[in-house]
Order: sequence, then C-alpha cells, then structure tokens
Amino acid sequence: MATPESVASMSLDGEIAVIMIDSPPVNALSQAVRTGIYDNVRKAIDDPAVKAVVLMCAGRTFIAGADITELGKPRQGPGLTETQDAMENSPKPVIAAIHGTALGGGLETALACHYRVAVPSAKCGLPEVKLGLLPGAGGTQRLPRIVGVEKALELLTSGEHVPAPTCLEWGLLDEIVPEGQLREGAVAFARRILAEKRPLKRVRDMDEKMIAARGKPELFESFRKANARKFRGFLAPEHNIRCVEAAVNLPFDEGIEAERRLFGELISGTQSAAQRYVFFAEREVWKIPDVPADTPVVPVKKVGIIGAGTMGGGIAMNFANVGIPVTLVEAKQDALERGLSVIRKNYENTAKRGRLTMEQVEQRMGLLTGSMALESLADCDLVIEAVFENMDVKKEVFARLDRIVKQGAVLATNTSALDVNEIATAVARPDAVVGMHYFSPANVMRLLEVVRGDKTSKAAIATAMQMGKKTGKIAALSGVCPGFIGNRILAARTRQAQAMLLEGAMPWDIDKVLYDFGLPMGPFAMSDLAGLDIGWFKETSKSSTVREVLCEMDRRGQKTGAGYYDYDEKRNAKPSPVTEKIVRDFMAKAGNQPRTITEQEILERCVYAMINEGAKILEEKIAIRASDIDIVWINGYGFPVYRGGPMFYADTVGLKTVVEKLREYGPRMGADFTISPLLERLAAEGKRLSEVKNG
Ligand code: 3HC
Repeated sequence: MATPESVASMSLDGEIAVIMIDSPPVNALSQAVRTGIYDNVRKAIDDPAVKAVVLMCAGRTFIAGADITELGKPRQGPGLTETQDAMENSPKPVIAAIHGTALGGGLETALACHYRVAVPSAKCGLPEVKLGLLPGAGGTQRLPRIVGVEKALELLTSGEHVPAPTCLEWGLLDEIVPEGQLREGAVAFARRILAEKRPLKRVRDMDEKMIAARGKPELFESFRKANARKFRGFLAPEHNIRCVEAAVNLPFDEGIEAERRLFGELISGTQSAAQRYVFFAEREVWKIPDVPADTPVVPVKKVGIIGAGTMGGGIAMNFANVGIPVTLVEAKQDALERGLSVIRKNYENTAKRGRLTMEQVEQRMGLLTGSMALESLADCDLVIEAVFENMDVKKEVFARLDRIVKQGAVLATNTSALDVNEIATAVARPDAVVGMHYFSPANVMRLLEVVRGDKTSKAAIATAMQMGKKTGKIAALSGVCPGFIGNRILAARTRQAQAMLLEGAMPWDIDKVLYDFGLPMGPFAMSDLAGLDIGWFKETSKSSTVREVLCEMDRRGQKTGAGYYDYDEKRNAKPSPVTEKIVRDFMAKAGNQPRTITEQEILERCVYAMINEGAKILEEKIAIRASDIDIVWINGYGFPVYRGGPMFYADTVGLKTVVEKLREYGPRMGADFTISPLLERLAAEGKRLSEVKNG
C-alpha cells in the first residue's frame, strides 16, 4: 500500500527544497501522492533554511492527473484544492519541473505553482473531456487566464497535449531547460528567481485576458456552432465551455465554485462513468491471458500485402507510415498502378492539409514496392492477404504462399467473415496463420480485429497485436466465428432493421433513431455508403428482398445517386418514394399489416439484439472480455463512446430490463432468435455484463 512517505520525499539542494514524487506508473494524484505533496510543501515553508521549492517527479512522467480509479469515490486525505492552496499561498516561490506529460490534475497542480519549467520533450494538457469530465481543480479558471479564451476553449474541449515549445510561446511555461537536466535546470531557475527577487506570480490574479473577453458572448457562441457536429451527444464539452464563460464573467473564487458544481454534475453522470470505463478498456484490450507481454514476436522488417485495392492499399499505408517497407502484389499491371496512385493521392491530400511534407510523402512512397509476382514476398516477415472474399480464392493464395514465403513468417488474412481455420488448412504451417481484419478505410479506422484460429501460435498473435500497436491501431482479439466480434453483432442488428422494415418502419425512421442514439449513421445510410451491391450478383438476383430490387433498379447506393435514399449532387440524402413503394409492396406480399413502430421499439430491438449477440460471443469465448466487444464497436462502428459500448450500455439500462424486452419482442425478432443464457443468468443474479471476463 502506497503511503505519503513512500511516494513523496524532499531533499535540499542548498537553499532549494526539491520535492520528488515517485508513484509509478504515472505519478497520478492518489490520496498518498496528494498527502505527500501537501506535507512536504508545508514542511518546506516551515523550514527557515528553504528559500524556494521545486516540485518534480521520478519515472516516466510528471503527474498525469487525478487517479482515475479514485474518481467518483469518497475522498480521503487532503483534496487537490487544499494542496494547491498550500503551494499558491506559499510565501516562498514554488516551481513545477515537468517532464513527460503534465496532464489534468497534474497540470492543474503546476498551474498552482508560481513558475513552470520543462524539458523540450514534455507536453501539457487538460484531457479530462476525454473522460467525460472537466478539470475540477481550477484548470478551467487558470488556463484561460494564461492562454486566453479561444485557446483555452480549444484545449479544454479537445484534450490535446501541447508540446513544451508551444507552451513556452503561450506563457504556460516560463522556461525550457535542457533535456535530461530537469533537476539542475529547475534548481538554477529557482536561484535566478531568488536573485532577481521576482515577485510570486499567482495565475489566479492574472485578469488581463479575462477582462479583454468580457461582454463578448459571441466568442462562445461561434465556438459552439463551429464544433456542433464534433460535440454531438457529449455533455462534457458544453460543461467545459460554461466554465470558461464563468472564468471570464466571475471573480476567481466564484468561477471555482461554478467549476466545482459543473464537475459534480459530470462525475455523477453516466457519460463520464462510460468514458472512464473506456479509458481502462482501451488499455486492457491488449492483454491476452495466455499470451503474456513477453511472448516472443517475429521481428517485422518487411511486409507483403496481396491485393492493392482499397483495403490492401489502406493497409499498406499503415506500415509505410511507421517506416516499414511493403511489397504490394496485384495480379494485373493496371490494377497495381491504380492502387499505388490512389495511395499517392491519399498522401498528397494529407500534405495539402499540412499534415505531411512532400518530402515525407516521397519517403513513404519510397517504402512501397509494386509487384505482380507472389514470389517477391519470399523474404517478408508478415504477409497480409487482402484479396476477394471467397474461400476458394483465399485458400489458393495461402497454398501458394506456403510454398513461397520463408519459414517463421506470419501469414495473415484480412477476411471480414470467412473461417480462418479453414483458410489455415491450405498450408502446412497452420500455426503461422492469423486473421488481421482491418476496417475500411484501413489507413484511417483505428480498429484491427486480430483473429485467433484453433492452431494459431502465440507468436503469430503477439506479432499481429504488436503490429497493431506500432501502426497506431487499437487491436482486439477475436476467436473464429462468422463475422468475428464486430460484424457478427452488426448482422444481429441488421436482421432487426430489415425485419422492422417489413413491419412498417421506413429506412429513414430506423436510421434517425440510431443516429439520435449517437451512432454516425443508421444501417440503411451505411448500406448506401458502402454500396448495396456488396455480395449481390445480377445473375442470381431474384427480386426476393428490398435490397435486391433496389440493386436491380441500379439503385446501388451513394455511388449511383440512389439506394434506400435519393441523393442530390452534394450527396445529401432524402427519403425516397421509390423505396417506400418497394417496401410497401413487400409488406403487402407478405400479408403484413403496417403498424406504427415507436422510436423506443426501433432502438430497443436494434440495440438489445446487439447486446444479446455480444453476450453469446462472450459465452462462446470468442471475446476475452466484455470490454473488448465495446472497444470493437466504439472504434470500428462509431458506437458513442459516452455510452461506453453496447455491453456497458446494457448495464446502464439494467440487464433485467433488457431481458424482459427481448422476451416481449422475441416473437417478432426472427424464427431462430434466442436469448443468450449468459444474459439471462446475469440478469437473474443482478450482475453486470460489462465486467464479464473469460480466463
Ligand atoms: N489514473 C490511474 N491510472 C492511470 C492514469 C490515471 N490518471 N493514467 C494512466 N494510468 C495507468 C494506466 O491505466 C496504465 O495501467 P496498466 O499498466 O495497468 O494498464 C498505466 O497507468 C500506464 O498508462 P498507459 O498505458 O496509458 O501509458 P502511456 O505511457 O502510453 O501513457 C499517459 C501515459 C499519457 C499519462 C496516459 O496514461 C494518459 O493519458 N493518462 C490519463 C491522463 C488523464 O486523463 N489525466 C486526467 C485525469 S482526470 C483529472 O485529472 C481530474 C482533475 O481535473 C481533478
């Protein structure tokens, strides 16, 4: 158990006291750390030999914020505010010495110091918004006093980490000291302050920028308007904005009161609970019980990708972005050239937006080699197949790879639904075969599903996960089943959406409910975007579903200007009378009397069907833990992070309610619909779904 004495110590460097926090992994402000700082600051103030105080941290970073595991629980020991007051009111200068990241309560602690110095690689930020919160220790009142309203709004609502040189420019830092010499630099700075008899600067007293913004509500209104889409559904951005308004319009202490009240609203709400859960879920998803972190991986120096289409090209960019050479194989010269030129265009567009230099574009393109021969993949350490979704084609590719690629390499398939075990039967080394399921566009979407076959080796899994991490993805491990975690749940939702279509709900009615719930779009808008003709074949089309009829009419989605919706030249969607008539004809044919389906039923049938499928995925041990399923749906399909993902959402609704509703809707949910026994059991026992872990 950490005690104040074990996490904080003080030593004297002449007349300068150096308080050192050492509380791995990130020096978060636990009760012990807060008490440790408080006690030592008091001690330094009382010690006549001390003339100034430096506060710094051991290990990888300065204080990374409040201890998130303690948030929302009853507080023990001195609060952060008391600790800050002790520093801010100290008659001796207190200097924060920053390395790593000063985040949240960490930066707020530094803002209560009289001065701040940092090494060049340090970063500062107030990322509370990402946890559905606002900085609750004066950050919303002190930050704008230094950087002004506009920058403060931007930083508080994005949670961005700002590099030290920019912080210096903005006045958040007073000095940058040489890398690796933080202690010496900070002590020298303290001596200079004393020698120059600089006044004790309290951020709370800096009013100039607040006065300048007073009486200008339009500053806030235009910020709200410009970011309305980004903030849709989230409570925390608006709460942060209101705090800055308070900073501008109220005296400091009243601003602090407003901040405390608004923080209280957020911390007790569901959104922040969901976002804090996701913070830990994002870190846990990498942990695989039987593939520990020290599992040997295949060192990947060269990657081969088969297929230079949208998928293959996007996947290739991930590796080129981190400096790994890629050989892209296509069957035909023109397809290869097209693939490479699309990649170039993507990079050039990024350069146009100022996020890459042309030199970097050329560097990345230089890492890509096109080829029409699988033989050129012989010396690759990782090969990812991204060809047409057809089992026979994939097996043939793998059989050939088996003869060509060096032993020890990882052979991955990007299939989104096919049986990885069956693909592995095509090779004499099934242990090398793993699924790496990217989401389109693969260079943008953060999710990577790593699929573990029955025979996949631990090294292959560890390598695929590590490559995910290296390329900035969030990787979740799935077992083999149709659609794996993500698409299997999507299919369960699609079945309900399609069923309701034939009961009387129009595509736009269903889409609206899911959009309002917080998803980027509903299932029909998503079909129109992806193309209705994925997996549709003209030759075998029998006008047997609404989708088939639409495809036969060449309404294949946005790309043809019409699908479930009609589109104008700017791709704005409008409800389509054509689709409505087709739907009504189908209903008549099926003998269905159209009925009014409430928004509540639409939402519950879609989302509870997802929850039910997720529970089945858990009981079949396809997913390691419920939170992995949430990570998949948040990062692969845009499930609103403030609802925590479908599994966490189920707990906020209450499992008993979910099960009761599924029983009620059951007869309409499809002939083969069944309720997950796990879900029923958890509901009966009053347990939580989001806490389920296998192994
Ligand atoms: N509280 C508790 N645990 C934390 C933590 C925190 N603030 N920050 C990180 N951790 C834990 C992680 O869960 C992880 O644990 P694990 O090893 O058991 O999985 C471990 O520390 C290391 O974290 P990362 O894997 O994220 O390490 P990185 O080096 O990649 O990143 C970091 C370090 C940039 C500091 C990152 O951890 C981070 O962004 N942390 C959260 C920062 C944050 O949100 N601070 C604000 C907190 S809220 C607040 O301060 C309220 C105040 O205003 C009152």
